[in-house]
Amino acid sequence: MELPPFELERWFDEYEPDADLMLAESGVRSLPVDRFDLDVGELGYVIPTDGDPEFRAEIAERYGRDTEEVVLTCGTQEADFLTFASFLDEGDHSVVVSPTYQSLASVPGAVGEVSEIRTEPPEWDLPVDAVAEAMRPETRLVVLTNPSNPTGKYLGPETMRALYDLVAEHDAYLLVDEVYRMLAEEPHPPAAALGPRAISTAGVSKSYGLAGARLGWVVASPEIADAVRKWKDYTTISPPMLGSHIARQALGEQEEDILAANRAHARANRERLADFLDRHGLDWFEPTGVNGFPTVPDGFESGEEFCRSLFEAESVVLAPGDVFGYSDRFRIGFGLPTEELEEGLDRIARHIGATR
Ligand SMILES: Cc1ncc(COP(=O)(O)O)c(C=O)c1O
Repeated sequence: MELPPFELERWFDEYEPDADLMLAESGVRSLPVDRFDLDVGELGYVIPTDGDPEFRAEIAERYGRDTEEVVLTCGTQEADFLTFASFLDEGDHSVVVSPTYQSLASVPGAVGEVSEIRTEPPEWDLPVDAVAEAMRPETRLVVLTNPSNPTGKYLGPETMRALYDLVAEHDAYLLVDEVYRMLAEEPHPPAAALGPRAISTAGVSKSYGLAGARLGWVVASPEIADAVRKWKDYTTISPPMLGSHIARQALGEQEEDILAANRAHARANRERLADFLDRHGLDWFEPTGVNGFPTVPDGFESGEEFCRSLFEAESVVLAPGDVFGYSDRFRIGFGLPTEELEEGLDRIARHIGATR
């Protein structure tokens, strides 16, 4: 399997270490570890290695699925990777909705073949008939992020049902990365609740502000979950012991507090950003989650030119739309602490002003 460089990660690697301000982080600001009980006794592997059965049962219940259909992983990234790697064979075809988080296109593209369905502003709606047209006899997966990274578009239950019916008709599956789902004020039912032909992946990194817990999961039919388990023996063996312990508290007794605080934080920062973009005449789709994908200001040829010059002038990191295949856009993450967002927006304003 040959994977292309992960362009977003390479961009961060180049600019983030020396930057004053990071305005391209895609999750909510991280929570302090001391709000959790950290006593796990012995720091060994989690046994059984697909995750504690009680914790998996709690997750399964959220999806209306069985415990055996849940595998805990090291983050959503591993959940996605193992699903593609274990499920797809050489020559299999996937239909991937873009723009998206690169691994969701690169990994199925490295194993088999990918058709991209580009969504477009201002609404970033997904035309289900375009997905239908892209389906082939060898199509095994339709893949999307919902809510989307980077646009923040949150497709509703009707579109998801139409996609589910479409994949079922073609004996294919729907893989939905839902790592941002719990940031919605009123989350829709998750994809895996649609039926056995839907696979949900998620984790605690983004909506809960717990990226360092490295805890994610796959919810899929028993055969797919078993294939994921088989591959996981060769990657990380078990989910992280401490991360599982923290995630269980975050999804349990602390969930209401965490989500209420994170949604309020996202809402307040979203309003600040909307106001800023409005003042500077930049278009965007008001997103669910904490990522926005606005237009590049006048005077810059591309997202890359804008983001590079901003870093050089003001030491602020944004993500160019070019790494998502949309060069007239940039991604801004507004989940960070509000003072940092405000300082970053002031610097962006100065940079835009200086070039006009
Ligand atoms: C859609 C999506 N999936 C997965 C990940 C990785 O998440 P995790 O930290 O849970 O591995 C990201 C990170 O940005 C993401 O945006």
